[in-house]
Amino acid sequence: EDTHKIRASLLEWYDKNQRDLPWRTSTKKSENGENVQEEEEEEKRAYGVWVSEVMLQQTRVQTVIDYYNRWMLKWPTLQHLSQASLEEVNEMWAGLGYYRRARFLLEGAKMIVAEGSEFPNTVFALRKVPGIGDYTAGAIASIAFKQVVPVVDGNVVRVLARLKAISANPKDKTTVKNFWKLAAQLVDPSRPGDFNQSLMELGATLCTPLNPNCTSCPVSSQCRALHNSRNDESVMVMDY
Ligand code: ADE
Repeated sequence: EDTHKIRASLLEWYDKNQRDLPWRTSTKKSENGENVQEEEEEEKRAYGVWVSEVMLQQTRVQTVIDYYNRWMLKWPTLQHLSQASLEEVNEMWAGLGYYRRARFLLEGAKMIVAEGSEFPNTVFALRKVPGIGDYTAGAIASIAFKQVVPVVDGNVVRVLARLKAISANPKDKTTVKNFWKLAAQLVDPSRPGDFNQSLMELGATLCTPLNPNCTSCPVSSQCRALHNSRNDESVMVMDY
């Protein structure tokens, strides 16, 4: 019913409209489908997703692209990064701000390599890495490892709040918890990473805080805020 329609519409829209971003490498299966190869691919992808999602936390996509490409040229793998110095990492980060994020990436890389170089592939294991919180853990687990887990950031909260016409106090801790629950119920079990990114993408491009482009929206017929003529409001998320 509604959930299935929302999933299908969002994924179809995402397949056609997703921005071409350097960390969005194809997740198509290799033809021989070798297990070891697949795992190697996942680990490479996990590293790229990690770096990009940390950069994206306080910085716009357009700015991140150049930083991401330079970073990947200098440290193409987790192993390369684990050999870097804090000075090098900070120098690479210059202009992005919040330098703690860069230090966490370095510390995390050192920790994963010290523990045998196997990239943690569940939310539980990822949360133990320095600097990886619920958001980054969910992003890596779903996008790189196809775990069926949600990801909630400010964009996702706004999209879900409108879709379900939810008003709540954004400062209240249970509000955020409830959005994680809602996102967990909605995430598409067959393509969790793409589904999560479709929500973020929708929030970034169409379901914007001001003047959302509802006429182009793939889930407008499921949107309760639009149905209630409240799509012009950010519903609850003005200062989220
Ligand atoms: N913002 C942060 N991470 C993103 C992603 N993976 N896709 C789209 N927007 C994002």
